[in-house]
Amino acid sequence: MAIFFDEKKQQFYLNTANTSYIIELLDKRIPINIYWGSLLRDMPSAVALRYMHPGNLSVHDVDCGYTFASSYGLPAELPCYGTGDMREPAFHAVYSDGSRISNFEYKSHEIINGKPELSGLPATYGNEDEVSTLLLSLEDQLTGVSVCLQYSVFEQRDVITRSMKIINGGSSEINVLKAASASVDFYDSDFEVVSLHGDWAREFQLEKNKVPYGVLHFDSKCGKSGHFQNPLVVMAKPDATETYGEVYGVNLVYSGNFDISVEKNAIDIVRLQAGINSFDFSWKLKSGESFQTPEAVLVYSDEGLGGMSRKYHSLYRNNLCRGEYKKKNRPILINNWEATYWDFTEEKIIEIAEKAHELGIEMLVLDDGWFGERNSDNSSLGDWFCNTKKLSSGLKGLADKLKDIGMQFGIWVEPEMVSPDSNLYRAHPDWCIHVENRARNLSRNQLVLDFSREDVREYIISAIRNILKSADITYVKWDMNRCISDWGSAKLPADRQQELSYRYVLGLYEVLESLTTEFPDVLFENCSSGGGRFDPGMLYYMPQTWCSDDSDAVERVYIQYGASMSYPVCTIGAHISACPNHQVNRRTPLKMRGDVAMSGQLGYELDLTKITEEESLMIANQINFYREYREVILWGDMYRIASPFENGFAAWQFISEDKSTAILCTYILEGKPGVAPKRFKMQALEKDAVYENVETGEQRTGAFLMNVGVARRWNSDYLSQVSVFRKI
Ligand code: DGJ
Repeated sequence: MAIFFDEKKQQFYLNTANTSYIIELLDKRIPINIYWGSLLRDMPSAVALRYMHPGNLSVHDVDCGYTFASSYGLPAELPCYGTGDMREPAFHAVYSDGSRISNFEYKSHEIINGKPELSGLPATYGNEDEVSTLLLSLEDQLTGVSVCLQYSVFEQRDVITRSMKIINGGSSEINVLKAASASVDFYDSDFEVVSLHGDWAREFQLEKNKVPYGVLHFDSKCGKSGHFQNPLVVMAKPDATETYGEVYGVNLVYSGNFDISVEKNAIDIVRLQAGINSFDFSWKLKSGESFQTPEAVLVYSDEGLGGMSRKYHSLYRNNLCRGEYKKKNRPILINNWEATYWDFTEEKIIEIAEKAHELGIEMLVLDDGWFGERNSDNSSLGDWFCNTKKLSSGLKGLADKLKDIGMQFGIWVEPEMVSPDSNLYRAHPDWCIHVENRARNLSRNQLVLDFSREDVREYIISAIRNILKSADITYVKWDMNRCISDWGSAKLPADRQQELSYRYVLGLYEVLESLTTEFPDVLFENCSSGGGRFDPGMLYYMPQTWCSDDSDAVERVYIQYGASMSYPVCTIGAHISACPNHQVNRRTPLKMRGDVAMSGQLGYELDLTKITEEESLMIANQINFYREYREVILWGDMYRIASPFENGFAAWQFISEDKSTAILCTYILEGKPGVAPKRFKMQALEKDAVYENVETGEQRTGAFLMNVGVARRWNSDYLSQVSVFRKI
């Protein structure tokens, strides 16, 4: 059993195959976290360990001969504001008498097989053999408010998830100000914090910082998880590498304003906390009502960042992504965006599709500009009707023609938005997020629809349903091209306006649940100006994300390397585009563009009617290669070998579960003159087995490939190689 309660020691053991998370009920009352790390089946009690700082005063002065420092507080599973812990609380609320102090103590617990769903929220899932759950109920006796901390243990995947439900069992209303999904204290401050920052076309930039005294916040206030920080934060021991050392990851299954904080206090205890952002947030909870937080996914690895990433990858591939396409090969696509932008006709699209089909591409995705009067980004969002001036046969006519060519049809939509110049806005000016009597701030000339409103959600569901029913459409690219500002809803009362950011995301999830259920055969791809909302919450509804608008091969190496920290390559959309590149004007060889895009869900995004014979041949070969080996790339294990953030080159590798096929991908970003070839050491091969390089026929043992490595020239920019090694 992955979870058990040691009655005598009052300890809960949450054990996975290789890790433990141990909670103790101090004085049978207060759950504290006493350990998270490598598997440990027996732990002395917290008091015996003299874990706590012997300070002066404490409201938690428990009857065990030990006093806890008031200003430092306990390593509580649910640290609350106002009772002596001066650090970031995990729970903060205002009660009807104006007081803000809570004192949650153990009430009961339940250990169950399986994992209950989180109502209205995306979450990891698993059957009773895969996952078990501890439901730990605590109560604040004075107010009758209780919380249920939910810990789910994916034993074989080495993952623990945590969330919290607040139940107002009292007779008066409360106002929740903060509700973190997870909070863990470490009796150690010797960490580096690894995070992913970025911006449009520059997502997933890896950064490492020493943990300073004080509080570091990695957060979003832009209404979506955002480009600026990804909701993944890793605490790594300073000696941790890709293959070695202890790392602790927390990834939030949430797509809106979040906050992951790392706080180091005066006595070198570090608190890691993750949840919805408490900034500009409050939630009224009436008597009898409950509030569910999103889920945090906690991963510990003593095999460095690589070990951690593989645990996230296998969890997300198997226990987060859903639907028909979860494990299915996705169509190789051509997207017309960079080929035509808004300027296209049905004839042009057909011309591109014909050429694409000839090369082996399976689907055409019609991007922005097919609806309303949309010829630039300043109109028509919300008017989801085909522009027959551009598409003379309508969506159905186009889909039928594509089918005749042998191509599937995918379509772009941006359902959360409205253009001021649209029929929808003219009919419903109050449907957008705004504050009455204040200017409405435009971004990309558009406003955000208020998805907290049921009428808005219903309208959008019906608009998208009509599109999907109007033609044979098998793919939807769901875009979202701005941050949210002007936080105000015409429907919410004044005292609930601060609920809007959470209600918006809940509304979005409701819409996505409804549409993905109604159209199970449609492959949905998530996009937000590229990777502006690339998070586990969105992956629950859409199994892949357009990872960046930057399709330059060099930039993509950084972006895809960073994204792979927790997101598996099968969730990463990657396209080959034209040169000079539209984002950075760089010229890279088509080979390198292909070698990078193949480490993801492959697609093309250029005017195929303008390519040369030689390029056609190369593209056809890329597609054949990808078809042959995508099983290993998309569903095998990924090992990162060299980081672009530390070198002028990068390398990673994929290996099939049975270790019979490994694919080594190397990329030289900045060549150096007069250097000996670089050796890239492969990983996870069978050391005594012999592997053959499929291209060259060269045979080497696994031990050789892992210890001596594979030599690559790096005396020139943009050299790249994708090599397959087959066990013979
Ligand atoms: C942003 C997306 O990331 C692009 O791929 C493209 O779809 C544009 N929006 C269209 O407006």
